[in-house]
Amino acid sequence: MAELLNVEHVRRTFPRGGGEELLVLEDVNLTLREGEIVGLLGRSGSGKSTLLRLIAGLSQPQGRPPILYGFAHPGPGAGRGHGVPELCALSLADGAGECAAGA
Ligand SMILES: Nc1ncnc2c1ncn2[C@@H]1O[C@H](COP(=O)(O)OP(=O)(O)O)[C@@H](O)[C@H]1O
Ligand SMILES: [Mg+2]
Repeated sequence: MAELLNVEHVRRTFPRGGGEELLVLEDVNLTLREGEIVGLLGRSGSGKSTLLRLIAGLSQPQGRPPILYGFAHPGPGAGRGHGVPELCALSLADGAGECAAGA
């Protein structure tokens, strides 16, 4: 099956007060192929939305950018829209679903 998405060694931190950094994602690896349905599970605050925002191109990758349909997806920038509309990632938390389809 064709590879739709590949992320490797994803790391994401956010600045905290006092010059410290909050490490949210570290060494996350994911490959999605055509026809696959994948759930992303984790407790609130574990980084699900952070990962989806990176995949959707709404957040700047800190390392190697996600590869979507064979092309590096460098994140937000002039002339670039939201990720891939047809790539709908479902993140389920506390029994409530949220759908990040390029959002
Ligand atoms: N833009 C941001 N700036 C600072 N901290 C953030 C930002 N986005 C998310 N975080 C922090 O990253 C952690 C993971 O958040 P998030 O990805 O929304 O978790 P989940 O979707 O799994 O509930 C949380 O501690 C959250 O406060
Ligand atoms: Mg979330």
